[in-house]
Amino acid sequence: MKIKKKKLAAAKSIEFIKDGMTLGLGTGSTVFFLVNKLSELVKQGLNVKCVSTSNQTSDLAKSLGIKIVNLNEVDKIDLTIDGADEVDKNLNGIKGGGGALLFEKIVSAASKKVIWIVDSSKYVSKLGKFPLPVEVIPFGSNHLFTRFIESGYTPAIRKNGSEIYITDSGNEIIDLHLNEIEDSLKLEQEIKLISGVVEVGLFNNIANMVIVGKENSTEIISRE
Ligand code: 5RP
Repeated sequence: MKIKKKKLAAAKSIEFIKDGMTLGLGTGSTVFFLVNKLSELVKQGLNVKCVSTSNQTSDLAKSLGIKIVNLNEVDKIDLTIDGADEVDKNLNGIKGGGGALLFEKIVSAASKKVIWIVDSSKYVSKLGKFPLPVEVIPFGSNHLFTRFIESGYTPAIRKNGSEIYITDSGNEIIDLHLNEIEDSLKLEQEIKLISGVVEVGLFNNIANMVIVGKENSTEIISRE
């Protein structure tokens, strides 16, 4: 019943939205429920403008009457609400399962507050079961792939059917099957330093709050 848990987390996050805010909207199936809830409030008169993290979210939000603006048009985002693929007790996480990690990280960095909405299966003791997405430029990506094999990272090029998956920025994604990440800060720094890597799906020290959707309730975990 992951869907119910995602819906509950999304519904709870709506309580943190205030009139007049500039919002960041994440990407994915949990954010889908958030955007739908938000559109109901907008129809009732809530005044917000939103920066989106993907074409998918922009299309959905616009179709539901939510105002989308470009990140360059705003000074600061008051609150970003996004999903995540895994979160640990320090509120570090893996994101990018939906391929939007680059814009998600940029939008988060421009935000005063970041809330992640997840179902309870994603709250884990150690990151790494979920394959770590690395966005890379297509030029020479086979060489990065080989380098990741040599590092023991068990890489897989993300596909969309039989085609290579291409992000909204025209890049490719290599998913690293690590199983366990010992030090997520060290790994983020190490991978980001490699030429050709655009972004890595390790989101360390970014979320201020995580709302975990459970069977019939939600749990709020905040960064101290
Ligand atoms: C997209 C993401 C999503 O937030 C993440 O994949 C969670 O998705 P979902 O809510 O569909 O489980 O990082 O790039």
